[in-house]
Amino acid sequence: MTTVLGSYSEAGGVCKTTHAVSLAMTAALAGRNVLLIDLDPRASATRWLTVEPTKPGLDVSAIIAADDCDGWADELAVPAPDGWSPNLRVVPAGRRLATLEGQLPHGVELRLMRAIEGTTADLVVIDCPNRQGGPLTLNALFAANALIIAAKPDTDGREGVEGAYTTIARHRQTLDRLGSTRRLDVLGIVVGNGRDVIVPRIEKHTLAELDNTWPGQVLRPVIPSRTIVREAREAGTWYGNFPSSAPVVEAYAAIAAQILHTMKEPA
Ligand SMILES: Nc1ncnc2c1ncn2[C@@H]1O[C@H](COP(=O)(O)OP(=O)(O)OP(=O)(O)O)[C@@H](O)[C@H]1O
Ligand SMILES: [Mg+2]
Repeated sequence: MTTVLGSYSEAGGVCKTTHAVSLAMTAALAGRNVLLIDLDPRASATRWLTVEPTKPGLDVSAIIAADDCDGWADELAVPAPDGWSPNLRVVPAGRRLATLEGQLPHGVELRLMRAIEGTTADLVVIDCPNRQGGPLTLNALFAANALIIAAKPDTDGREGVEGAYTTIARHRQTLDRLGSTRRLDVLGIVVGNGRDVIVPRIEKHTLAELDNTWPGQVLRPVIPSRTIVREAREAGTWYGNFPSSAPVVEAYAAIAAQILHTMKEPA
């Protein structure tokens, strides 16, 4: 079965996109066939990878807007450019997603799931938008069979985790009530952008709080903060191409080894 992994939190700026892109690239570099889906109207992952749809409008909003979206994820996927990985494809986001979001009728929550069904990818990674519920989040939750909860080591990060667990619990109840056999496994809380030389008190405190509130859920290592991650993103490149990112690359590889071991082996 294809692993469909959502990078989720209910707070903004807590490393959802960095986790999604980093784990997608880590798996692609390990030989997995990976499809990254940018479900955020702000299109951060799309801009980072400097990808564009093959024709205007043929981005992820086409899936959410159409009722005959079955299997479209592979159709809309474009290859990541040079400097990334030939095993990585991306379904870009587009600005239309934001306008669309306010106009969606009920019953569109399964469109992303239907678009992904039958994909040739071993791993699909969804970069979730910064939302508390709503149609885009529901599309992500129905499409995913696994989630990581993204956090950074501060109050925003913690609140985003709390909101995420509440929404996930509600979603599982919905699946149960529907008699669905679909699973939504939480693989853990991945903490990013943390200081690793002198760790500020707020970061230590937040980590301890996360560990106490959700025992065993906070994966290690914390992904260390490095300026090259931001710089590479601004330049539209993969930070792993620069030696100073080595601690970040190693940390994401260690997280990927823990959470993606159940993923389909490369052909
Ligand atoms: N390991 C890291 N080192 C340095 N900067 C980082 C690291 N991880 C994330 N960042 C930076 O933190 C900021 C927020 O990260 P990111 O965009 O991944 O969060 P997000 O949850 O996707 O935000 P949004 O809610 O806006 O979608 C970005 O500027 C990103 O470059
Ligand atoms: Mg983001």
